[in-house]
Amino acid sequence: MAVASAPGKLILFGEHFVVYGLPAIATAIDSRTTANVRRADEYALVDDRPETPGYKKEKLAQQKDSVQRILRAMNLAGANVRITLGGELVAASGVGASGASCSAIAAALNEEFGLRLDREKINAVAYEGEKGYHGTPSGIDNSCSTFGGFIWFEKDLMSGLGEIRSLDMKIPMTIVMGNTGVTSNTTEVVEEVRKEREKNPEKFGGIFEDYRRIAEEAREVLEMKDLNSIGRLMNRNHELLRRIGLSSPDLEKLVEIALGNGAMGAKLTGTGRGGLMIALVDDETKDKVASAMEKAGYDSKITTIGAEGVQIEKEP
Ligand code: PMV
Repeated sequence: MAVASAPGKLILFGEHFVVYGLPAIATAIDSRTTANVRRADEYALVDDRPETPGYKKEKLAQQKDSVQRILRAMNLAGANVRITLGGELVAASGVGASGASCSAIAAALNEEFGLRLDREKINAVAYEGEKGYHGTPSGIDNSCSTFGGFIWFEKDLMSGLGEIRSLDMKIPMTIVMGNTGVTSNTTEVVEEVRKEREKNPEKFGGIFEDYRRIAEEAREVLEMKDLNSIGRLMNRNHELLRRIGLSSPDLEKLVEIALGNGAMGAKLTGTGRGGLMIALVDDETKDKVASAMEKAGYDSKITTIGAEGVQIEKEP
C-alpha cells in the first residue's frame, strides 16, 4: 500500500489573463488531498473527500475518465487497485481539487508500483489526469499541487503548453478565503470573456497592458517580501477583473468586508462571478477578517500559502 498527499492551490494573480498568454502567479495552500493506493481483487475508486454539496456527483464521470487517463499514462491500464481519496481539502471549485487529486494519485501509484518517476514526470501524468476534467487545462493547478510553493505560469499560445517556473520564496503568508457559495462554470465564463474581448478589443488591450505591469511588479514585491505592496497589487488586479465583468455582488461584499477589517489586499480568485475571494492578512487581522465574513453569512477559511508539493506519506 502507498499513500501520497498533494495540496490545493489558489491563483494570486492573473486568472483569465492567463488564457491570453499573460503570466499568472499561483500558490499551494495548506489543505491537502490524500490518495491511498492498495492492490485488490478488482479496480475500485472510493472518494471520501469533504465536498461542497453536489460537487462530487457532478464531477463523477469526469473523475472516472481522469483516473483511467492517469493509469494509461503510467502503463498501468487494467491494474487491480483500490484508490481511496481523502484529506481535508474540500472538493470544490477554485481550490484546485482535481489537480491535487491527480497529483496525489500519480505519486501514490508511482510509489506502489516502484516506477521511480521524478517530480516532472509525476506532473506530466497529473496533467493527463486533468484532461479528464477540463479538456484543455492550462496546467497551472497540477503544477502547483506537484511542485508546491509559488508558481509563475505562462501559456504559449502557439503550442498551448504552459511554461512553469517555481518562484523562490520562503515567506509565510496568510490568506483568508471567503466562499460566495456560488459554483460558476469555468468553460462558460471563459467563453463569455472571449466574446466580450472580441466586441471591445481596445478596452481589453488597455486592461491587458495594465495587468502585465501588475504581474511583473507582483513578482518583484513577492521576492522582496513586501506584503503591503502585494496587497495593493491584489486590489488593482481585482479592479481589472471587475471591469471585465467577473465580480459579483457577493464577491464585492466579501472584498469590502476584508478591506474594512484590515486586510492588506483582496480579490476574487479563479473563475469569478462566484466561487472564492481571497484576502491577504497578517496574524493580527486574520481572525477579525474571517469572523466578519462568517457574521455576514459566508464560509471562511484561514490558510497559509506556499505549502509543500506532492509527497509520500508514511504508512499508518
Ligand atoms: O476557477 P479555477 O480556480 O479553476 O480557475 C480558472 C482560471 C481561469 O483562468 C479562468 C481558466 C484557466 O484555465 O486558466
